[in-house]
Amino acid sequence: MERYVITGGTRLHGFVEVCGAKNAVLPILAASVLSPETCVIHNVPRLQDVVLMVEVLKSLGAKVKWENKTLMVNAAVLDPTRILEEVMKKMRASNLVIGPLLSRFHYARVPFPGGCAIGSRPMDYHIKGLRQLGAEVDERYGYIEARALTLTGGEVYFDFPSVGATENIMMAAVLSSGSTVIRNAAREPEIVDLANFLNGMGAKVRGAGSDTIQICGVERLSGVEYRVIPDRIVAGTYMLAAAITNGDIVLKNAVVEHLEPLIAKLRAAGVTVLKNGRGIRVRGIPRCKSVDIKTMPYPGFPTDIQPQMMSLMSLAQGTSIILENIFENRFKHADELRRMGASITVEGRVAVVKGVKKLTGAEVEATDLRAGAALVLAGLAAEGVTVIHNIEHIDRGYHRLEEKYALLGANIKREKSNGSPCKRLEDRCETVVSQEIKSNALS
Ligand code: UD1
Repeated sequence: MERYVITGGTRLHGFVEVCGAKNAVLPILAASVLSPETCVIHNVPRLQDVVLMVEVLKSLGAKVKWENKTLMVNAAVLDPTRILEEVMKKMRASNLVIGPLLSRFHYARVPFPGGCAIGSRPMDYHIKGLRQLGAEVDERYGYIEARALTLTGGEVYFDFPSVGATENIMMAAVLSSGSTVIRNAAREPEIVDLANFLNGMGAKVRGAGSDTIQICGVERLSGVEYRVIPDRIVAGTYMLAAAITNGDIVLKNAVVEHLEPLIAKLRAAGVTVLKNGRGIRVRGIPRCKSVDIKTMPYPGFPTDIQPQMMSLMSLAQGTSIILENIFENRFKHADELRRMGASITVEGRVAVVKGVKKLTGAEVEATDLRAGAALVLAGLAAEGVTVIHNIEHIDRGYHRLEEKYALLGANIKREKSNGSPCKRLEDRCETVVSQEIKSNALS
C-alpha cells in the first residue's frame, strides 16, 4: 500500500502536456478485437486501468505490445470463452468487451460487474440493447452470457444516455447483418473517438456526438492506426490545480471544446482561463467565488470533475450547491475534505459547500479515483501536511501524478505506508512537464 505526503501552500506553475484519454482508450482497446488484423493505437496512457484492459485482451488470446505510448493489438486468434475473471472483476470497464466479442464471435460471457464506491452501476441498458440487436442474454450465476448466431441490428432507446451502454451497443452493431439506431445515446467526446476508430477499421457509424447514432453493419473490419484524444478529465484536474493553488498552468494539448463546461464555471468563479487552438492557460486568484454545479451527461458538467471542483469550492468565498445527477453515491470525498476543515453538508444527491478561508493538512483516504484526485488538490492548497492513503485508486486514472505535480512546483512525495520510499520500475513514457512558461503562452 502506498500513500501521498503533500506539504501544501505552493503555487503550481508551469507547462504541461495532457496524456491520452483513459475513457477513450478502454473502449478502443475493446474494439480492437473486432478485427483479425493489427490495430496500432497511439497516445495511450500507461495507467492501471489500461494495463488491466490489456490483461483482459491477452487472456482472450490477443497479442499486445507496448512501445512507449503506442499499443499494438493483434486479435487474429481469440477464444471468447477464455477470459481472465480476476482481472475482469477488478475493473468495471472490462465489460466493454461484451459488444465486440458478440459481434465477431457470436458469443461473450463475462462476470457481472459489482457495484462500486460511487454507486450501484447496473448493466440493464447494455443487456436490453444487446437483446434489441437480436442477442440472447442470460444473467445467472454471477455472469452475463450473450449469444447470437446472427446479430440483426435494431432500434435501441436508452432511458439515460449511458456512456458504456452506448459504446457496447455501437461495437456489437458494427458487424451485424442489418442496421441499428441508438436513440438517447451518450454524446461524450470518448464516444466520438470510438466511432472514429471504428470507422477507421471500415465500420459505418454516423451521428456519434449527437443523441442519435446510426450503424450499418459490415462484413469485416480491418486493422487501423489511430491516435487517441487527450484526456479532458486529467486536463480539468490540472486546471483546477492551477485554480486552487493560485497558480499559473499552461496545458499544451487540451481540447478546449471538451472542457467548455469547466471553463465556464472557472470563469464564473473569477479564475482567468485563456484559450486558443493550441491549449489552455489557467491563472488562479487568491480566493475564488463560489459557483453552483450540476453534473450532467456531456456537454453538461462532468461527474468525473465534480469531486475536484468540490475541493476548489471548499475554499471559495460564499456557499456552493453541488447537485450530482449521474451517480447516487459520489460524495465520499466530502467526509475526507471535512477532516481537512471544509464545511460541507450532504443530503442525498445535494452537497452544500460553505467556503472556508483555509484547509489544514490531515490523514485522509482516497475512496475512489476522482475522490483521490480531489484530495490531492485539497492537500496542495492546505496549510501543513496531508497524507492520502489508498492511492492505488488514483493510479487508475493518473499516471505518476506526483512526478508531474512536483515538476509544477508541488511538494508531493509517494511513499510506502510504512514511510519508506517507493521505487517505480516502469519506463517513463509520458507527459512532458516544465516549469518555464514562455511569456507569450496564451497571454
Ligand atoms: C463512464 C466513465 C466514467 C464516467 C461515467 C459518466 C468510462 C470507462 N467510464 O462510466 O468515468 O463517470 O461514464 O460520465 O468511460 N446506468 C444504468 N444502467 C446501465 C448503465 C448505466 O442504470 O446499464 C446508470 C449508471 O448507474 C449511472 C448512469 O447510468 O447512474 C451513467 O452511467 P454510465 O454513463 O453508463 O457510466 P459508465 O459508462 O459506467
